[in-house]
Amino acid sequence: MSTLAEYVRSNGGRFENELFEFLRIPSISTLPDHRADMLRAAEFVSGKLAAAGLENVEVIENAAGRPLVYGDWLHARGKPTVLFYGHYDVQPVDPLELWESPPFEPTVRNGSVYARGAADDKGQFYAHVKAVEALRAMHGELPVNVKFLIEGEEEVGGEAIEAYLAANGEKLQADVALVSDTAMYAPGIPTICTALRGMVYMEWQARGAARDLHSGLYGGVAPNPLFGLIEVLAQCKDAEGRVLIPGFYDDVEAPSAKEKASWAGLPFDEAAYLRDEVGSTALTGEPGFSVFERIGARPTFEVHGLPGGFTGPGAKTVIPATAAAKVSTRLVPHQDPVKILAGIEAFVSARAPQGVAIEIREIHSAPASLADPDHPAIAKAAQALGGVWGRETVYVRSGGSIPIVGEFQKRLGIPTILMGFGLPDDGLHSPNEKFSLENFHKGILATARFLELLQA
Ligand code: BES
Ligand code: MN
Ligand code: MN
Repeated sequence: MSTLAEYVRSNGGRFENELFEFLRIPSISTLPDHRADMLRAAEFVSGKLAAAGLENVEVIENAAGRPLVYGDWLHARGKPTVLFYGHYDVQPVDPLELWESPPFEPTVRNGSVYARGAADDKGQFYAHVKAVEALRAMHGELPVNVKFLIEGEEEVGGEAIEAYLAANGEKLQADVALVSDTAMYAPGIPTICTALRGMVYMEWQARGAARDLHSGLYGGVAPNPLFGLIEVLAQCKDAEGRVLIPGFYDDVEAPSAKEKASWAGLPFDEAAYLRDEVGSTALTGEPGFSVFERIGARPTFEVHGLPGGFTGPGAKTVIPATAAAKVSTRLVPHQDPVKILAGIEAFVSARAPQGVAIEIREIHSAPASLADPDHPAIAKAAQALGGVWGRETVYVRSGGSIPIVGEFQKRLGIPTILMGFGLPDDGLHSPNEKFSLENFHKGILATARFLELLQA
């Protein structure tokens, strides 16, 4: 242990510089202009996997131009196999003017590196790569077998990896998956995330008249598809936050008493959370459920945007011919995305106002995931984290989604350990995203320690 810690300490500056080089690549998966950057990022990853001593390293291209990267090291005979997963794609940077330093010029302030993708997820999974490098450098071999599968489209739903997983179940077989793409409960509190929400993301496309119309000449007779969407959306949820789509809650299970008790034991100041994290005048949501339950154990229904009609400066008197709504629901364990989507489709088609046709296009969906905190590998991960941070690991659920985690369970039949090194205020998907460099170094040590513990 002490030698490995020494290696990480003496190479820490180089590790950071490599991460900064990675962070300079603007690998924004949703923007088609960044296709070349996606390939560059994938090549960066494959190069570092090879340098860490992994074998069979490949960049697996796909039509969308967002390659997967694979590498393995399978010489620990009779020992377990860990499937490492991470994503090199990042979110767009807008609004750019709110960044204190440019998003793709990593800048260190107060012990954190600020850059898009620093915590989500480049910095986090790069800690895994450096853990493998350190173990190989120290011992010439690894304590367990490892496979790395890194994707470039997590932020856009992960189509390629899902297909790859479906077609390569044998090749990807492992005992457990390890993912660092979540956050610690609070600074200094080592955390394992036991559940992620799933989701169904849709675009609702509405059509009214054959063309845009003058709202004076036709107002009063022409159907307005933008308003039609609003009318239907308003019926989907009541004022207290209950979703009104029939069957929506059918498969939702309450968290166990043990889980609820462990949440109740976590330090939580609701007033500070409202003020500092949410920054609104009130918290919303279903009555009778705590904040933890509303985020971790209850599904949601949200509208993200209403593209359509006139949105420029000033006024334009128009009844738009078409409009759309970006809508998603976050699902909890046991809810089936297919069933939920069907329920929404039936509800919307029954409620669309006269003269407005609404068609639902599914953009992506994924089931929720739930891990058993008593699984022996999770217990070892908790032990590794606890040893590095010097305090007992806590278990929480997260409201976010990592689409492939549910697939690892479904296709490979393996649990995923969500060992996040992020912090609640890292600003994922927001301006000034950051990642704690202390957590980067501790993450390397915790990952290496976990592999050592898993060997026994
Ligand atoms: N890493 C996040 C998810 C996350 C963050 C989980 C913090 C738990 C704690 C991931 O990259 C993400 O943003 N996922 C998307 C999924 C999607 C676009 C399919 C999400 O949750 O919106
Ligand atoms: Mn992520
Ligand atoms: Mn993300």
